Amino acid sequence: MIELAPSILAADFAHLSEQVDSAVRGGGTIVHVDIMDGHFVPNLTLGPVVVRSLRKATELPLDCHLMIERPDEFIPEFAEAGADWISVHQEVSRHLNRTLNLIRSHGMAPGVVVNPATPIETLSEVLDVVDHVLIMSVNPGFGGQKFIPGAVHKIRRLAEWRAQARLHFRIQVDGGIDLETVGEVVRAGAEILVAGSAVFGQGDPAHNAQKLLKAAREAALLRV
Ligand code: DX5
Ligand code: ZN
Repeated sequence: MIELAPSILAADFAHLSEQVDSAVRGGGTIVHVDIMDGHFVPNLTLGPVVVRSLRKATELPLDCHLMIERPDEFIPEFAEAGADWISVHQEVSRHLNRTLNLIRSHGMAPGVVVNPATPIETLSEVLDVVDHVLIMSVNPGFGGQKFIPGAVHKIRRLAEWRAQARLHFRIQVDGGIDLETVGEVVRAGAEILVAGSAVFGQGDPAHNAQKLLKAAREAALLRV
């Protein structure tokens, strides 16, 4: 099933709940929340306080993408704030299995993320532990960057691998997803599409979300 996860990073934070409502009217079913610490990535964003407010504003799953060092220290706080999904980067997790189990033990769905330069082979031992794998199609840290095409073959290989190994995680992609790029990532096997600027950039988020989802669903029909 194809789902759209609007990334609030590109939203107007002074009107966050209206912006989320609008993206949801357009078909968004997961709210993607980018958490950055200024260490793992060269930018700062938000933390559990905003997650707590979002929890009151929507019943949709809050998908927290942690771009932070030492994620284990913050997992209980995100759980308490009302996060549903937590993704951690393979590159920061020295004890990835422990971190993913910690997320699940707090009642949240664990996901693992790989940067553009990180091979998906590094995930071989955790694919049976996660609910979703997030393939970055930009270097994390900022919205509005250009899509890195190398993500496409990673998505395709991951989908094949999942079928061969009879695993059940979902495949998510994040970065530079718009009307131009959504078709190829969906045809490769992406199911959860994170989009920031393409939804909240120019124009009406509801209309933008609707168009993006329509293009994604059409592409899904062309999967081989
Ligand atoms: C980038 C974030 C993304 C970002 C995507 O570090 O992980 O979620 O919001 O923004 P766009 O869709 O504008 O590339
Ligand atoms: Zn993200």
